[in-house]
Formats: sequence, structure tokens, C-alpha cells
Amino acid sequence: MNNILEIIKKAENTHELTKEEIVILLKDDENRDELYRAADRVRKKYLGDEVHLRGLIEFSNICKRNCMYCGLRRDNKNLKRYRLKEDEIIELAKKAKSYGYQTVVLQSGEDDYYTVDKLKYIVREIKKFDIAITLSLGEKTYEEYKAYKEAGADRYLIRIETTDKKLYEDLDPGMSHENRKECLYNLGKLGYEVGSGCLVGLPNQTMESLADDILFFKEINADMLGVGPFIPNEDTPLGKEKTGDFHLSLKVTAIMRLLMVDINIPATTAMESLEPEGRSKALMAGANVVMPNVTEGEYRKLYALYPGKICVNDTPGHCRKCITLKINKIGRYVSDTKGFRKGNDREVV
Ligand code: 5AD
Ligand code: SF4
Ligand code: FES
Repeated sequence: MNNILEIIKKAENTHELTKEEIVILLKDDENRDELYRAADRVRKKYLGDEVHLRGLIEFSNICKRNCMYCGLRRDNKNLKRYRLKEDEIIELAKKAKSYGYQTVVLQSGEDDYYTVDKLKYIVREIKKFDIAITLSLGEKTYEEYKAYKEAGADRYLIRIETTDKKLYEDLDPGMSHENRKECLYNLGKLGYEVGSGCLVGLPNQTMESLADDILFFKEINADMLGVGPFIPNEDTPLGKEKTGDFHLSLKVTAIMRLLMVDINIPATTAMESLEPEGRSKALMAGANVVMPNVTEGEYRKLYALYPGKICVNDTPGHCRKCITLKINKIGRYVSDTKGFRKGNDREVV
């Protein structure tokens, strides 16, 4: 047996790899299907065939940050901005529940219109629908995170984007890598389920750096991890850079599953924006979550992180049916639970 198959076997059996072994897997293309199959077996063994859906509400595309890769960056003047009112957000969450979602993800740019009081109101009202709430609002203080948690928020997503401090600080001007790590730490301390993740294929990102990302996620014991390829946006300073590689993103997903057996891993929108049936492929390489869009009307298009985003002309009802079909087509089924991390044991709460 060749060295690479040995490494895949080791990962499947022990769920441990060294940085060097991860780099070897990331660089290899010949055995990548075996890597995906191994991750799929581990997913099936620990989590079964259920797929958790999270209804994504993109409620404001206004952002005070200036990340070089992102279409929502404040210096992008080519984007029409929008911001939903508190009651509109609550209404969308109610509709998400009626479509059968057990979780809503409230995502926005870093928009200071939404004060702690407004967010507490939104979270409290949505919790009345008996639905889990994931927030994805960027960097906030410990006190802010605490207030949202007390209002009823269950989970929080904040990607580290890259663990390479220099690359991070070059690409996210004015932001501190330490502070981002501090956010992840604070969220864990406050009892959130914590989600992170990284971009794959950023300019100047190395395989070694991606291996560091994976090991970092294991070290902090992340509950959820989302990764996707970098997709250059013409309206940003990185518009002329190379697009991230779909299969490299899939390999990162698969290795994360092999090393972190029971966490929730989404098949991300960016993956399907690059590759036909990209989410189904990710679901067959370790992923067990999908986050369909429940934002309505032109807002979907305006939440323009990157070009080619799927579903921008579709309705929430259509996406809900579409994703169920895709999941069933690969022999899986949509879960009817809130889908906390197995072992966190919060289904009864
Ligand atoms: N390509 C792919 N993903 C992107 N994101 C932002 N800009 C891009 C892009 N150009 C991702 C970031 C962020 C998430 C909400 O969207 O990783 O955390
Ligand atoms: Fe703002 Fe997030 Fe985009 Fe950065 S990645 S510009 S923080 S929306
Ligand atoms: Fe939106 Fe398929 S999930 S069209």
C-alpha cells in the first residue's frame, strides 16, 4: 500500500495526523477519492445519514470592515446596501420555521445599527418559535456575546479565515488576529456552540498554512466548521486573483471530518457556486449540514460576498424543496432535530 493510503487509514482509525501528513494529503490528487470515501465512512459511523438544515437569513449587507476578499467591504461603492428591520427579521425566522427549519442563522456584515437591545429583542422573539438560533455577526465584545446568549442564542459562527497571522492582517486591514482568537475563546466560555472555518485558496496561502488551520480547529475543539473556496470579486482589491480550488476545499473538509468525528460540517454555498452539485459532493466527503437561504427577494443578490452565488433568483420555498431532493438523491435524509453537536446533548433543552 502506498504512503498516502497509509496516512488516510491512520486518520480513519486514530483521528490524529501530524502537520506533515496533512500537507501530504492536501497536495495529493491521485488518491483524493479514497480520502473522500474515508471521510464519508467516518461521517456515517458517528453521525448516520441525517443532514441538518439551517435556514440562512442575510439581514444586512452593511459592514464597517474592509476585508480585501469580500464584496460587502465598506469601500465597495458598487453595491446597493440594505438593512432589514427587526420585525422583518423575526418574520423571516417565522417563515423559516414554517418551512420546517429547526435552526435559523442570522448573518450580516458588521453593522452597528443593530444594538445589543435590538439584537436581544430579535433573539427573544425568534426563540418563541422553538427554533435554535445561530448568530454570525462578526467581532463583538465579551459583554455583547453574553447579552445575546442570555437572550437565547445557541450558536455563533466566526471564521478565523486563516490562522496565518500575517496573511490575515494583510487581508483584513485594521483587524487583529489576536482579537479574533479572543472572540472564539469568549464564545466557548459563554457556552455557545462555536463555529469557525477558513477560506481556501487565498493569494499567498500555502498548504502548510491550511494544515495549521485544521490543527488549530482541532485544538480549540470547534463544534462547527465551514470552509469554502476563495472566489475573487471584481469589486474588491483581490478581483484579479486566482479562484480557490474546489477539490482543495473538499480535501480540507474531508480531513476535518477524519480528525473531528462528531462536529457539524456544512457543505457550503461557495462550494456549489464553483462546482455543479458541489454541496452534494461535500456531503459525500464528510459534511453533514446544509444552510439554504431563506432571505427573500432582491436581498439575496445584494448579499454579494462573491460572484456566481447560487440561489440568488430562487425563493425560500423553492430552495427548501430543492435541497431535500438533492439530499434524498444521495441516500440521505433531512433531520427533524435541532442538530446540536452529538455529545453536547442539548436536544432536550
Ligand atoms: N469568496 C469566498 N468566500 C468569501 N467570504 C467572504 N468573501 C468571500 C469570497 N470572495 C466568506 C468569508 C466570511 C463568510 C461569511 O464569507 O469566509 O467569513
Ligand atoms: Fe465585513 Fe465579514 Fe465581509 Fe469582512 S468578511 S467585509 S467583516 S461582511
Ligand atoms: Fe436554492 Fe437549490 S438550494 S435552488
